[in-house]
Amino acid sequence: MLYSDRVIEHFINPRNAGYIANPDGEGTMGDPSCGDYLRIYINVKDSCISEIKFEIMGCPAAIATSSVLTELAKGKNIDEALKITDLDVLRALGGLPDPKVHCSNLGAGALHQAIWNYKKRSQGGKSTK
Ligand code: FES
Repeated sequence: MLYSDRVIEHFINPRNAGYIANPDGEGTMGDPSCGDYLRIYINVKDSCISEIKFEIMGCPAAIATSSVLTELAKGKNIDEALKITDLDVLRALGGLPDPKVHCSNLGAGALHQAIWNYKKRSQGGKSTK
């Protein structure tokens, strides 16, 4: 099974890894089939994702897809970011070997959860801030 250079580069040097203390929104997604788990944190300014971080317990492909997802989402209007799909993430990485395609299915879902969490909080829902 061969990973593309882009996948390897994002795995070795993941962008936006880490967490945000008291984020504006956070979302999680897991894959019960392998136990991998992703958490996305966002801060929002002027309706755009001003900061995004991720923490993951996962395989190299999941780390690379999470990294590239944060690059796709950072700076985007939140409603535009809600349109990011698993396929967008896969394409941004230049694809994955067939047995690892499922690893690209955590990022968009976790991002969408984080945005919905932000929207809920900003509309008067429970906030940790
Ligand atoms: Fe679980 Fe890659 S093996 S996400």
